[in-house]
Amino acid sequence: MPIKNRFAELLPEIAAWRQDFHAHPELQFDLPKTTAKVAALLRDFGVDEIEEGVGRSGIVAVIHGRESASGKVIGFRADMDALPIIEATGLPHASTHPGKMHACGHDGHTSILLGAAKYLTETRNFDGKVVLIFQPAEEGGGGAKAMMAEGVMDRYGVQEIYGLHNNPGTPVGSFEIKEGPLLAAADFFEIIVKGKGGHGAQPHVCFDSTLAASAVVMALQQIVSRNVDPLQPAVVSLTGFATDTMAHNVIPASAKLTGTVRTFHVPTKELVRDRIKAVAEATAAAYGATIEFTYGDGVLPTINAPAETGHAIKAAEAVAGSVNTDVTPSMGGEDFSEMLAVRPGAFILLGNGDSADLHHPHYEFNDEAIPAGCSWFATLAEQRMPISA
Ligand code: NI
Repeated sequence: MPIKNRFAELLPEIAAWRQDFHAHPELQFDLPKTTAKVAALLRDFGVDEIEEGVGRSGIVAVIHGRESASGKVIGFRADMDALPIIEATGLPHASTHPGKMHACGHDGHTSILLGAAKYLTETRNFDGKVVLIFQPAEEGGGGAKAMMAEGVMDRYGVQEIYGLHNNPGTPVGSFEIKEGPLLAAADFFEIIVKGKGGHGAQPHVCFDSTLAASAVVMALQQIVSRNVDPLQPAVVSLTGFATDTMAHNVIPASAKLTGTVRTFHVPTKELVRDRIKAVAEATAAAYGATIEFTYGDGVLPTINAPAETGHAIKAAEAVAGSVNTDVTPSMGGEDFSEMLAVRPGAFILLGNGDSADLHHPHYEFNDEAIPAGCSWFATLAEQRMPISA
């Protein structure tokens, strides 16, 4: 069972949805145009149930199979939000919303799941229910968590959950997956270094927050190399440094540092968090400065469950012939982890061909990947919930 012929027929239609989403990117939970189009298409296909405004702006829809004796309910998830990036592709369907861009391919993910929904409502060649989950705010807004907080999995009886993400640099329509940890926990932190400001000509009567913050930046580099177990992956990146004035002749009273922590295991994450605070405090103190430390839990690690990974592989093999089942985990983070934390499931990577990287102003989702993505979802439904002979 390779790519389903129906998706080759539907490709121009699905690609047109995708390019329309691409031209009208929206951010975080604020997705009025995107959600209106998704809901209208789902109603047009004839889904059996639809609920809007879930987790503020998510959509849940249910498709009943031709039979319902199995009692099985499988969830499929897509993300709908774009990024605050100025698009530089120059494409005919480039963003018409200045400063916003579908630079992570969520326009493609949403269109793929809509394409699968169209096919599944036409054919209903399965015994059970498919629950479609279209989530807002994947890009750091906690959209999946917001939907899970409203009890989506329990209310719709979802038993297992699957999602996909396009993957630049691997052949179009190819699949990569791995059982266990696939993507990291992604947290964020902020350190405000407070010294004593004053005249740039009189450093001896100040406590220079710029110098203290610089020393903190350097000292934090040693946490991964000196404190973390060498066999545990961890990243500490300082990504922002701002003083409270940029005047030539003023020593700033405070400096703000921002950064991200990426880990796979909770004890490592807690160690890194505690060491950042302790090292920053002690380093700043050596310069006569104090700190305010804020640490935010971002997304959980994305961990593929063993059985569901097997189901995802079987469907992908049916579509693509072969699957790379030993992809190297990435320190990137993914909001789908919040769904995997409450239900067993699997997240698969779909080749996007030789495109620019994700979150790059030249990135473009590859429409040629659509039939493989749609076929994977449809095949999963039919394989996991076969019609009785
Ligand atoms: Ni993404």
